[in-house]
Amino acid sequence: MAISIRLLKDSEYPEMLKLMYNVFPNANIKINNGDRIIIADMHGQVVGFVHYAYFNGKAIIKGFGVEGNARGIGIGTGLIEHVLKKFEKLAKPVYLKVLSLNPAVSIYARFGFFLVRNNEAKGVSLLVRKVNN
Ligand SMILES: CC(C)(COP(=O)(O)OP(=O)(O)OC[C@H]1O[C@@H](n2cnc3c(N)ncnc32)[C@H](O)[C@@H]1OP(=O)(O)O)[C@@H](O)C(=O)NCCC(=O)NCCS
Repeated sequence: MAISIRLLKDSEYPEMLKLMYNVFPNANIKINNGDRIIIADMHGQVVGFVHYAYFNGKAIIKGFGVEGNARGIGIGTGLIEHVLKKFEKLAKPVYLKVLSLNPAVSIYARFGFFLVRNNEAKGVSLLVRKVNN
C-alpha cells in the first residue's frame, strides 16, 4: 500500500483540518503559527496527522489521529516514529496528554513514554519521553 509520511503541504490544510475534526469532533482545535504538522498520505489522501510544537526546549504533541477506516495497520505507529526521530536529533524531550483508556497508550508505552501525572477527574494522563530513552 502506498503510504508516505511527510510534512503537510499548504494546499492540503483544509483536508487535514477536516480529518482532525472527524477524529476529534468535540475538540477545540487551535493551530498556532510555528506549529508543525506531519501527515500520512495514502493514495493521495490525508489519512493521519501528528500536530506538534516546540516550547521552552520541549516538544509537545498536541494532536495525533488516523482516519477511522485506516486504523490498525501501523499508520499511527509510523507517524509517531517519524516525529520521535526528529525530536531525538534535536535532543528534545517530548510531552503529550492522552485519555487514560486510549489505545494510543500502547503506542506511547512501546516508544518509551513515562507517566508524569494522572488527572483522575478528567481521566487524562501527561506522558513524557526523555532524551536518550
Ligand atoms: C490512536 C490512533 C492514532 C492509532 O492509529 P493507528 O494507525 O490505528 O495505529 P497503529 O495501527 O499503529 O496501531 C497502534 C496500536 O493501537 C491499537 N489500536 C489501533 N486502533 C485501535 C482501536 N480502534 N481499538 C483498539 N486498539 C487499537 C493497535 O492494536 C496497536 O496496538 P499494539 O501495537 O499494542 O498492537 C488511532 O486509533 C486514532 O486516531 N484514535 C482516535 C484519536 C486518538 O485517540 N488519538 C490519540 C490521542 S492522544
